[in-house]
Amino acid sequence: MVILGVESSCDDAAAAVIETTQPGVAIVRSSVVANQDAIHRRYGGIVPELASRNHVVTILPVIHEALETAGCELGDLDALAVTRGPGLVGSLLVGLMCVKGIAQSTGLPMVTVNHIEGHLLAPLIEHRVEMPYLALVVSGGHSALFIVEDFGSYRRIGRTRDDAAGEAFDKVAKMMGLGYPGGKVIDDLARRGNPARIKLPRARVRNAPFDFSFSGIKTAVAMLLADSSANAIEPADLAASFQEAVVDMLIRPTIAAAREHDIETIALTGGVAANSRLRSRLTETAAAEGRRVVAPALKYCTDNAAMIAIAGSWRLLRGERDPLDLDAEASLAL
Ligand code: KG4
Ligand code: ZN
Repeated sequence: MVILGVESSCDDAAAAVIETTQPGVAIVRSSVVANQDAIHRRYGGIVPELASRNHVVTILPVIHEALETAGCELGDLDALAVTRGPGLVGSLLVGLMCVKGIAQSTGLPMVTVNHIEGHLLAPLIEHRVEMPYLALVVSGGHSALFIVEDFGSYRRIGRTRDDAAGEAFDKVAKMMGLGYPGGKVIDDLARRGNPARIKLPRARVRNAPFDFSFSGIKTAVAMLLADSSANAIEPADLAASFQEAVVDMLIRPTIAAAREHDIETIALTGGVAANSRLRSRLTETAAAEGRRVVAPALKYCTDNAAMIAIAGSWRLLRGERDPLDLDAEASLAL
């Protein structure tokens, strides 16, 4: 089955063509992403109206490029998968309406996909991963721990009580004047810094060992920078110390959950899964107790449409389809 996947839930417009005969096993024939970082950078964060307006301009060229790279035309497709939510409603609508239009005009079956399900199944794009596995989803909008029991069966066992991890990276980078998006800038700068140089708090949520909280560390960095002696702080040391604290706060609940639920494989996914320190430290910590960490390639960690196509594929392979009157859902639950 050849599936076109489309994703436009936030600031990336993406399309991908995958080929699959079995749930969770796919060949990615193309995966194209039109990134809007250059547009939102000057505002230090995503401006929803600009995101959706730019999707209107880019979505068709992105789909054309994905088809062309895959060497196929609409007539070669067997099905369509598109993100329905959660996300920015204006952004979601662009991809969803576009795919509905293709479904209407071609008669191809269409399924809608929860964006988080896409991140949860992204590790399957390049790896064989036995279920159940534990998935740490860390992005600009989400930080949560899920047990992926089966296709369509996802149990959330932990979540952030305030900011998402990516949001903390972005906000701290903004405070430090490092630009947007902050995750990659901090990751790069931290390589030259000393992670033990500045003492920062590691928050834990009382009676909820698998939950996260990142608002305290953000405030701690803000207060540090507001201090008159802030000039003495080496930015690379602050980046490294902040990153180390966030990584600690992500690893502790993840390992605790893996132990508690006796799960051997931990999948790391979402934009923050691109973080080099998180990848290496989680891998080492897990390996020390006989667990395996599976992390998608960087291009499948951040928002992309291959993960949407693979998340839609298990339902399409069963012959399911969604009605064309489904609407976008900004806070769609999984
Ligand atoms: O999954 P994603 O592309 O979009 C959302 O669904 O949110 O994640 C984007 C987030 C941003 O907050 C960005 O700063 C963060 O992922 N990010 C990183 C890194 N690369 C991207 N955070 C830490 N280290 C990185 N290398
Ligand atoms: Zn995402």
